[in-house]
Amino acid sequence: FAAEPTTGERKQVDNIAHRGATGYAPENTVAGFDLAVDMKADYIEIDVQRSKDGELVVIHDTSVDRTTDGTGKVGDLTFNYLRSLDAGSWKGEQFAGEPIPTFEEILDRYHGKVGILIELKAPELYPGIEEQVADKIKERNLDKPQNEKIIIQSFNFESMKTMDQLLPNVPIGVLTSNRADTTAEALQEFSAYADWFNPSYGIVTKELVNQVHSLGMQIGSWTVRSQDAADFLFEMDVDAIITDYPDYVDPRN
Ligand code: G3P
Ligand code: CA
Repeated sequence: FAAEPTTGERKQVDNIAHRGATGYAPENTVAGFDLAVDMKADYIEIDVQRSKDGELVVIHDTSVDRTTDGTGKVGDLTFNYLRSLDAGSWKGEQFAGEPIPTFEEILDRYHGKVGILIELKAPELYPGIEEQVADKIKERNLDKPQNEKIIIQSFNFESMKTMDQLLPNVPIGVLTSNRADTTAEALQEFSAYADWFNPSYGIVTKELVNQVHSLGMQIGSWTVRSQDAADFLFEMDVDAIITDYPDYVDPRN
């Protein structure tokens, strides 16, 4: 057994930059992901959806309205239109012109440099997106367990069962903020295909962390936007902290 850390020491906890270093740069943009790498995050978290004409793109909301200068639903818009939008200015003029990234460009730019936590956002809107995502990962040989830090997660559990079948060697995560998903039965069911159980921090307890661990899964929790929230999750002994502020989770601070 590994020795319990003595007072003042912390176990290693993965520092996951939520949509990039979102506290300081526009979410789901190269500017925000580059900053997360500079800030020594262990992983970047990205949200993947699909354009009307089939391109995989990285954006959180199912509409472009909040984070770009365009309007409309991601799945109703062509890739050329999506790519013409400014996804940076809303966060500050210094980010003007930051485009919506493609999934492939994010894989190519960051794999091997930083872990990538890939969220399939609302996959029920994009039939077949699981196969498409799996193909892009396989094309790059990122599905070999020893190769890369890649995790795939979603709030859509059926989609994650499919991902587990398509990419049996890639760790799968389930996301929830629902206490009903923390019962012994629910956790047992998740553990049949998931490697990570990733709840919002409002439903995290020490008991939950122990249950998840005893089923052989790891636990990552979100979304940290204060030092207090980060400290709570360190106290709870989670394995990963998904944060807008990578500096709050950095052991050097
Ligand atoms: O990675 C966890 C977190 O991203 C889930 O919530 O809404 O930020 O995608 P959301
Ligand atoms: Ca997300």
